[in-house]
Amino acid sequence: MRVVSCNSFGPLDQLTIEERPPRELGPADVRIEVKAAGVNFVDGLFVQGLYQVKPPLPFVPGGEIAGVVTEVGAEVSDLAVGQRVFVSTGLGGFATEVVVPAGAAVATPDAMTDGQAATFVQSYMTAWFALHVRARASAGQLLLVLGAGGGVGLAAVDVGRAMGLQVLAAASSEAKRAVAVAHGAAATLDTTADDLKTAAKEWAKAAGRSGVDLVYDPVGGSLAESALRSLDDDGQYLVIGFAAGEIPRLPANQVLLRNRRVTGVDWGGWIGKHQAENRQMLHDVLAAISAGDLHPVEPRAYAFEDVASALGDQLQRNVVGKSVLVP
Ligand SMILES: NC(=O)c1ccc[n+]([C@@H]2O[C@H](COP(=O)([O-])OP(=O)(O)OC[C@H]3O[C@@H](n4cnc5c(N)ncnc54)[C@H](OP(=O)(O)O)[C@@H]3O)[C@@H](O)[C@H]2O)c1
Repeated sequence: MRVVSCNSFGPLDQLTIEERPPRELGPADVRIEVKAAGVNFVDGLFVQGLYQVKPPLPFVPGGEIAGVVTEVGAEVSDLAVGQRVFVSTGLGGFATEVVVPAGAAVATPDAMTDGQAATFVQSYMTAWFALHVRARASAGQLLLVLGAGGGVGLAAVDVGRAMGLQVLAAASSEAKRAVAVAHGAAATLDTTADDLKTAAKEWAKAAGRSGVDLVYDPVGGSLAESALRSLDDDGQYLVIGFAAGEIPRLPANQVLLRNRRVTGVDWGGWIGKHQAENRQMLHDVLAAISAGDLHPVEPRAYAFEDVASALGDQLQRNVVGKSVLVP
């Protein structure tokens, strides 16, 4: 089998494609031929040694895959050879095949392509967790999504629209704003031209409000304070991530004023203590996708050999929606 190997932390072009012997299959394991490996923002940080967690070297990056079962262990009864599945691998997904415990593999619904199945888990589970579980958002509320053309942002547009929220999508390019509109954003805001606070408040005013109810922020950096200031009374600022590379310092007086709230969203950290709820959440997300209520984007495909370009495009904000490596 072939893998993308990170042998030392550093520039993306240090990644190598290597031949490895097939992994042994345990009695409770399945072997999966990878059809698509999802690329996430964090993968580029991992291989450069810029993430807070540094995997022991060498390691194979890649946290999400979709593919076809090619072999099942002697004790596996609920999965069969030929079945389409997806898996959250954590690491090790940038490979032509993976071996995982059968319990980690979930059947891919007919409604989903392999590309969608390899890219929706992190983005949709984060968005669902943020809006349903952390924010307890309700229909009719006004939601401002930053980074709305990226992975977790676009998923929040889709989940928010499906919950009956009015979504204002903020993004830096026409292509990103267009994909957000296609996923249900009611209006858009150009972060390279518009003053975020002014534009968001004007949009809210048209709905008879003096600010938005929710800000969903996976970007951080300089937009954060402006977004906080666009919140109405009792508005909630959801801290999702810091793709801009800068952790914002928000003025506490702007939280106090109007009785606003700042809410942390750490889906990954929550899973450990809430396994059953997380399984139920995945079930609910899959049911919504199968019912046609949610629409994970079809990702842009990169050849396996182009892993450095795929990760570089992600980190340089060139990806609209999601992307995958195709072994
Ligand atoms: N809290 C959680 O549980 C959780 C779960 C998953 C991911 N995350 C975090 O959420 C963040 C976004 O992840 P993602 O998968 O949505 O990434 P993504 O697909 O790359 O989207 C991030 C967006 O951030 C914006 N951005 C602004 N400045 C940027 C910069 N200097 N570099 C890169 N992007 C920049 C870009 O939108 P514009 O071009 O429109 O500005 C880009 O589309 C990451 O920090 C990730 O670690 C958090």
